[in-house]
Amino acid sequence: MKLIVANWKLNTPNLVEWKSFSAPKNVEVVICPPFPYFAEVKKSIKAKLGAQDVFWEESGAFTGEVSPSILKEQGAEYVIIGHSERRHWLGETDEMINKKIIASVRDGLKVILCVGESKVIRKTGIEEAKKFIAEQLEKDLAGINKEDVKCVVVAYEPIWAIGTGIPDKPEDSAEMAQFIKMKTGARVIYGGSVNSKNAADFLSHAEIDGALVGGASLDAKEFEKIAEIAAN
Ligand code: PGA
Repeated sequence: MKLIVANWKLNTPNLVEWKSFSAPKNVEVVICPPFPYFAEVKKSIKAKLGAQDVFWEESGAFTGEVSPSILKEQGAEYVIIGHSERRHWLGETDEMINKKIIASVRDGLKVILCVGESKVIRKTGIEEAKKFIAEQLEKDLAGINKEDVKCVVVAYEPIWAIGTGIPDKPEDSAEMAQFIKMKTGARVIYGGSVNSKNAADFLSHAEIDGALVGGASLDAKEFEKIAEIAAN
């Protein structure tokens, strides 16, 4: 079954339109809204709930942070960790990402770990990109055993493909997905400028277990089309 994840980022989609969203039966659909919309999304959208981030401590003096157990209590099943926008804008390191993954898995959340290389690296060739991704995975998943990996989905998101309208070549991301699977044993989804026009090119590859969708997830109808493509 393919996994299709909506990452709304810091946006407010038309929630009234989302009320009529319906996911095909044989696709797992997850919506990751900004935290304050959790209750409304949980109540009115027929999909699983995910968070865009989490902190590694359970409670305490950590202003602005949210723990895995609070997310679970609020109905979240998934959490995105290590998105390149957080790595870039908030200086999230692999060490922080690793702590977040360990805490989330411990508390029973499913993790969507984002990895991806820059354009500069990709320009030097896909083998160099694989080396970079392997290093990220090693650091991010340090101490995660085979059993824990069952709770982790890796999202391969080349940084240069995110929000640019220039997706990766589907054959290249399929090759990378295969490489990540071989390294980790985790399910692998692709993210970076996925929309209803190109989704089939990615999802038709058996190595690609789904998609992480940003911009195209803001429109309920467009996202529904992607979910339908994933069902076929
Ligand atoms: P995009 O974002 O679909 O807008 O490229 C994907 C992501 O950042 O998860």
